[in-house]
Amino acid sequence: MTLTKLVVYEELRIEPPVVFQYAKAKEDLVVHSHDAAFEIKKGEMIFGYQPFATKDPKVFEDPEEFVGHRFVGEGEKLLKYVYWSNGREIDDPTVENKQCSAKDLVVLLSRVMLVELFIRYDTFTIEIPPPYTIIEVEALTARRALEFAMEIGIDQDILEGDSKILIKAFGE
Ligand code: HEM
Repeated sequence: MTLTKLVVYEELRIEPPVVFQYAKAKEDLVVHSHDAAFEIKKGEMIFGYQPFATKDPKVFEDPEEFVGHRFVGEGEKLLKYVYWSNGREIDDPTVENKQCSAKDLVVLLSRVMLVELFIRYDTFTIEIPPPYTIIEVEALTARRALEFAMEIGIDQDILEGDSKILIKAFGE
């Protein structure tokens, strides 16, 4: 089930549901980027666009790519750059910080919906552009699934198939 959580985090990173944020500064402050610092005076309006941070190429490799296992293992350190809840994913909402009070509930329900999708739909239709054949795409998909299983530490798998052509293509 951990994987469903990581997939939800990646979705919230790549497409934060509330992208714009604004507020008046309660005190003088300095906001730092990688290579500059910006002075903000008390009372000034600050406006933020989350994808600038959640798709920052200096933080996330291939930021425009959906990588389901991005936050596995060492990748977990990157969770502090996921801000959909108006705060870091590693932080908790308090009476002081205006972070979404339903932060954990949102992640939990998203995971439940994801699992429900997988339970309901086990086939889907796609158009395969030439020169690939459906068999080749199926073989590549199965191989990718096995690679992914190994990446997350599963070292024993049973691959079931009902097509001799596919099993042959996979072997090749
Ligand atoms: C995908 C769903 C959700 C997203 C993306 C989301 C996002 C956010 C964001 C960005 C804020 C900060 C607003 C701001 O002050 O700028 C916020 C605040 C809040 N959210 Fe959510 N939220 C979600 C679902 C929920 C749900 C289901 C609840 C309640 C059951 C909830 C309760 C709250 C509350 C009470 C605050 C105000 C916190 C405060 O001002 O101290 N949210 N949410």
